[in-house]
Amino acid sequence: MAVRVVVGAQWGDEAKGKVVDLLAQDAEFVVRYAGGSNAGHTVCTDGHTFKFHLIPSGILHPQVTPVIADGVVIDLRALEAEVNTLREQGIDIGRLRIGLGAHLVLPYHRRLDELEEARTEGRIGTTRRGIGPTYADKAARIGLRIADLLDPDRFRARLRRALEQRNALFQRVYETEPLDLEALAAEWLHYGARWRDQFTDVPALLQDALAAGKNILMEGAQGTLLDLDYGTYPYVTSSHPVAAGACLGTGIPPRCLDEVWGVAKAYTTRVGEGPFPTELADEQGDYIRERGREYGTTTGRARRCGWLDLVALRYAARLNGFTALAITLLDVLSGLPTLRVCVAYRLDGAYTERFVADGFTLARCEPIYEELPGWQEEIGDCRHREELPPNAQRYLAFIERYVGVPIRLISVGPAREQTIWQ
Ligand code: IMP
Repeated sequence: MAVRVVVGAQWGDEAKGKVVDLLAQDAEFVVRYAGGSNAGHTVCTDGHTFKFHLIPSGILHPQVTPVIADGVVIDLRALEAEVNTLREQGIDIGRLRIGLGAHLVLPYHRRLDELEEARTEGRIGTTRRGIGPTYADKAARIGLRIADLLDPDRFRARLRRALEQRNALFQRVYETEPLDLEALAAEWLHYGARWRDQFTDVPALLQDALAAGKNILMEGAQGTLLDLDYGTYPYVTSSHPVAAGACLGTGIPPRCLDEVWGVAKAYTTRVGEGPFPTELADEQGDYIRERGREYGTTTGRARRCGWLDLVALRYAARLNGFTALAITLLDVLSGLPTLRVCVAYRLDGAYTERFVADGFTLARCEPIYEELPGWQEEIGDCRHREELPPNAQRYLAFIERYVGVPIRLISVGPAREQTIWQ
């Protein structure tokens, strides 16, 4: 029996979907624990490409029970659309379990996210999926949960209360149209009736699974540097992508976590606003973006690209307690004559090897680089670490030494088989 957590070690988009799909081969439960439809996980199998936003990537394995746990915020309209696409691709959704404690993303959350992002000042560069406003309502205790859908009167009453506040805001502050209570209630109660059999007491389900010695894989979304508390605040998401968030989001006790896998690209990307010390605003950044197909799965936005930031990666390793690293997209770096990795920062004239999570302070950090020789060969066909060009092996060894965590998986292309296991 093992409980494994897969955590994004950077600013999201680390190709966690592929890693989860691979690790799900011997899992009985694959559990999304945080975030919502802001996530976009891509899995490529036998010539097919699947894109997931809310549904755990592990659903592709027939023995897996996929679970959306209580820490996730769920837009049922987005879930319906995702399910329809997956059904057309022949995926059985009947096994999906949805947490009764999960909060609902409602159209007014999306609308608020969009209105706030339309401002020019103070913009976070969110995915506009309503994530921030939903978690804000959860903390303010005016959120609606999956469980509310089981009792239409209670759902309507809670929705009326929330909507009164929101509509006042829409009309008086943003000078836009109010939302209609009845139309909203009818649509969401309709989803509730349809999904009813899949609503589940997730902590109980997973605690029974633990007692029965089942293998549980917890699938993180976003990344450590986007964590609400430990990321580059305020340029963060509103949930807890870190490993500790897996316990909060699922009801699995911390002492039950056996392995924490950190997934990092061989370089760094970021979407949205916020500091990014190793960003490359030049043709090397363009080279990485084009070779890595660095465009968002959820929003299609071009991702900002830069060198690997080892200061940030070691911060993530310590914060999450990584027991293993998965390095993805190593193949993207082929063809660059020299590679740089950030090993320290200069902050207001002083040298530091410590990560600075505060978003405004990080913006003042200049990267200090170590230069490593690149390699020219394409590596998509390598299946053993020893088959990689010597400079690629040196690059990986440098990462391991600096971060202090063994690399157990190296991805050299999008396909399942383009993987090196250690
Ligand atoms: P939100 O999660 O939509 O509120 O966006 C907050 C910040 O997190 C923005 O910078 C987004 O670009 C970023 N973000 C949210 N989800 C993801 C993701 O899945 N991958 C990468 N960045 C994300």
